[in-house]
Amino acid sequence: MHTIAIANHKGGVGKTTTAVNLAAGLARRGHRTLLVDVDAQAHATFWFVDDPEEVEADLQDVVTGRVELPKAVRTTRIEHLDLLPATLALAQLEVQLVSMTRREDRVARALSPARETYDYVVLDLAPSLSLVSLAALVAADSIIAPVSATKLAVSGLGAFLGWTEDFRAEGVITAPLLGVLVTMTDTRTRVTREVQEALAGSQLPVYATTIPRRVAAEDQVGERLVAGDAGTSGDLSSAYDAFTAEVIAQTSGAQAGGGQAGGTRDGEVRA
Ligand SMILES: Nc1ncnc2c1ncn2[C@@H]1O[C@H](COP(=O)(O)OP(=O)(O)OP(=O)(O)O)[C@@H](O)[C@H]1O
Ligand SMILES: [Mg+2]
Repeated sequence: MHTIAIANHKGGVGKTTTAVNLAAGLARRGHRTLLVDVDAQAHATFWFVDDPEEVEADLQDVVTGRVELPKAVRTTRIEHLDLLPATLALAQLEVQLVSMTRREDRVARALSPARETYDYVVLDLAPSLSLVSLAALVAADSIIAPVSATKLAVSGLGAFLGWTEDFRAEGVITAPLLGVLVTMTDTRTRVTREVQEALAGSQLPVYATTIPRRVAAEDQVGERLVAGDAGTSGDLSSAYDAFTAEVIAQTSGAQAGGGQAGGTRDGEVRA
């Protein structure tokens, strides 16, 4: 099993859209996949649960030991894709973790039974450098950082990667950065070109696939569509499909993330 955290403390860069489409893409290729919503905003949950009121247990219940993982997990409309949902109650976990021993390991421990059941676990993180986010990164085998094609997002990426590197240096986080995924690109704009050039000139592993900016992305949230569904935008779907194929190629080998520039402290990304 391989656990991938989709993470960046900057908000609105495409983390949830990426987590949902990657998880669905992995499942549609026959990989048993668990999508874990690690954000009290519960956006990934919204994608697959019609009525949030019907969610009886979430990640917080599993981490605090109130509910066992299999009882909190729900199936989704997509074959091979399960969901560990989030609710607003997840916001309490931050405070609860503070009084727990081995707090950074708690999400990893809570998710450890998934090792028996799934090929991939995909974690959708909140836009914060919180204890819950740290514990989710500790649970990960690799990290994918989406970054939107904007100058502010790229400068924020350096801060996020620096933060993870501090914990990696202490041996708290072991997951390497599997790659940076550039989202919301518009090849007609200068900023998109500048962002791509800045990343190409950095030491960071960057996915060859980029995700185009499309109004349809917004509609697909409302309609709860993922790549491969009828009615999705063709090039958005095919971009997420190509990205999923890149991730599988990276993780199906013996050494996931091998050869990647793991913990580069990225002061150099400038756009
Ligand atoms: N490729 C795209 N083109 C246009 N809009 C997009 C694209 N991807 C995502 N969006 C939209 O941008 C917004 C932010 O996307 P998303 O929720 O995936 O980001 P996020 O990083 O998870 O946000 P948060 O930090 O709040 O968790 C959403 O409204 C989403 O529909
Ligand atoms: Mg999100």
